[in-house]
Amino acid sequence: MTILVTGGAGFIGSNFVLDWLRGSDEPVVNLDKLTYAGNLANLDSLKGDVRHIFVQGDICDRDLIDSLLATHKPRAIVHFAAESHVDRSIHGPGEFMRTNIDGTFTLLEAARAYWSALEGDAKTGFRFHHVSTDEVYGSLKAEDPPFTETNPYEPNSPYSASKAASDHLVRAWHHTYGMPVTTSNCSNNYGPFHFPEKLIPLMISNALAGKPLPIYGDGQQIRDWLYVTDHCSAIRAVLAGGRVGEVYNVGGWNEMPNIQIVKTIIALLDELAPSSEGSYARLITYVKDRPGHDRRYAIDARKIERELGWRPAETFETGIRKTVEWYLANAAWVANVQSGAYREWLGKQYGQA
Ligand code: NAD
Ligand code: DAU
Repeated sequence: MTILVTGGAGFIGSNFVLDWLRGSDEPVVNLDKLTYAGNLANLDSLKGDVRHIFVQGDICDRDLIDSLLATHKPRAIVHFAAESHVDRSIHGPGEFMRTNIDGTFTLLEAARAYWSALEGDAKTGFRFHHVSTDEVYGSLKAEDPPFTETNPYEPNSPYSASKAASDHLVRAWHHTYGMPVTTSNCSNNYGPFHFPEKLIPLMISNALAGKPLPIYGDGQQIRDWLYVTDHCSAIRAVLAGGRVGEVYNVGGWNEMPNIQIVKTIIALLDELAPSSEGSYARLITYVKDRPGHDRRYAIDARKIERELGWRPAETFETGIRKTVEWYLANAAWVANVQSGAYREWLGKQYGQA
């Protein structure tokens, strides 16, 4: 038995591969294009491990996917590969449409051809799991209940629109062709190997470098936060016991305004890595808001809890402490990802290098 993972060198995908091989000897074929967000250093601890087969390639490459499916005969595909950063989607949506929509379409078509030719238990047991986001549901008002799986889709950014499109394709491939798919829509993840363009790792790395901590707008936008290994365990639970054709919302019951997240990080850094210039709070800088910025996301995770018995293992307090400690212990990893291309991004987005 083998599983095929796409995007397994990115933030969540690499945590998933590491987690999977910590708990199982079932090999993983890891297909990743290694865009700016893909980093093989995340998988350094698997060097020489025959259970991990890394293939650099694009999910839009049908011939490559066909040949990987024919060679490795996976029992499941877990699809993480995507362009994932909202701000980048605002500056340049093209790559989001290509990877998130065309790439998912290509993968679904290859998977359908492969699955159609399977027989018996191999056919009934096959799964295509699509990893998606809570952003497809749009923005909540302060008084709205959290998103359930039946909320209407109201994506507001090029990123969330492209993910919504991919969710619809996955749904249609089940409805029309009977493909055995499952989908999970998760809230904001954080933890090790998170690329420092996203809020939490950006704040940690900027603070340690003595750079401004850019807060968009009034900093009162709310997200639900989930430690990344809890997302991995939710995906494993869906793969193992999720009902075919179903969608599962995944979240940490952890709604918090951005400014509170940043102040929590500052308090931890002041404790664990105090600066000679005083509290890192001096670096907080309010900047121009993100265009079309969604005000609030919140997840109702009762379905996955009820049906699959899944619960997050970390609270925000334990998860954020582990995360800050990881970044303090892995300064070399951060320095390594801060490539020339990343510095160009900082210049474009924040006018800094
Ligand atoms: P990421 O940007 O860190 O990683 C994406 C990975 O996909 C990278 O390794 C990249 O090289 C790879 N990739 C991109 N385009 C590719 C292509 N055309 N072919 C093959 N590989 C390609 O993203 P992430 O934060 O790890 O997110 C993973 C998935 O989870 C995405 O589908 C995202 O929408 C979803 N998600 C993310 C979050 C979050 O908080 N980060 C929350 C919910 C859902
Ligand atoms: O909700 C799930 C989504 O979470 C995933 O689908 C996305 O892939 C992932 O990137 C994340 O999207 P967000 O836009 O919520 O994450 P980001 O880290 O970019 O921003 C979190 C919040 O912090 C958001 O309200 C914008 C704000 N922010 C972000 C940055 C980078 C700032 O205030 N300043 C910043 O510099």
